[in-house]
Amino acid sequence: MPLSRAPRIAPSLLAADFARLGDEVTRVIDAGADWIHLDIMDNHYVPNLTMGPMICEALRPHTTAPIDVHLMVEPVDALVPQFAKAGANIMTFHPEASRHVDRTLSLIRDNGCLAGLVFNPATPLEWLDHVMDKIDVILIMSVNPGFGGQAFIPHSLVKLQQARQRIDAWRQQGGQPIALEIDGGVKVNNIAQIAAAGADTFVAGSAIFGQPDYQQVIDAMRAELARGPSIST
Ligand code: DX5
Ligand code: ZN
Repeated sequence: MPLSRAPRIAPSLLAADFARLGDEVTRVIDAGADWIHLDIMDNHYVPNLTMGPMICEALRPHTTAPIDVHLMVEPVDALVPQFAKAGANIMTFHPEASRHVDRTLSLIRDNGCLAGLVFNPATPLEWLDHVMDKIDVILIMSVNPGFGGQAFIPHSLVKLQQARQRIDAWRQQGGQPIALEIDGGVKVNNIAQIAAAGADTFVAGSAIFGQPDYQQVIDAMRAELARGPSIST
């Protein structure tokens, strides 16, 4: 699956109504979302427990939009083929949670998905140094993982700029496209600033599902994004 055109809005189902997840997927895609972001938490890597491959599989028939699986689990590898089989299109994981980061990236691609690394607020971008050719998505956490509804950590903007520089330099050398995704505390009132720092893919949970009219929020986000310089990859 090639990356779709940026900017991309990826609503996090963590803030959706868990009693009617299929409807929530349909509603948010009809409202203009690009990807569905699934937060997978294992009560081990993060102190919370959410969903497994069975829920991904149950949601798959509800949309043709890419399903973006954010693995907050440790260990990682056993779940990769399971989520691929369940219909995931993109899989990202935290490098601290895998013993063999290069191997896990290859495993995700070998299972037919786009692969990415997730960077917690204190995790350095140096994890990218030797694996750029195996990366399709860089996900910058702008909160500590585990819960929705937290406040955006301002230093994430600096980190986004640094990740953007790495991607642009890589592209100039002839490297493959890499999405730059931000996750945590993304709202209508800060999305333009986040885009200006280099993000092209925006996860938003409570900002979207916390409002009755999803389209109104997504339209407002897109209007904010249209105000600033756009990223084309
Ligand atoms: C946190 C998750 C996020 C979270 C975002 O661990 O990775 O995807 O659901 O939620 P909001 O947008 O409410 O900060
Ligand atoms: Zn997430």
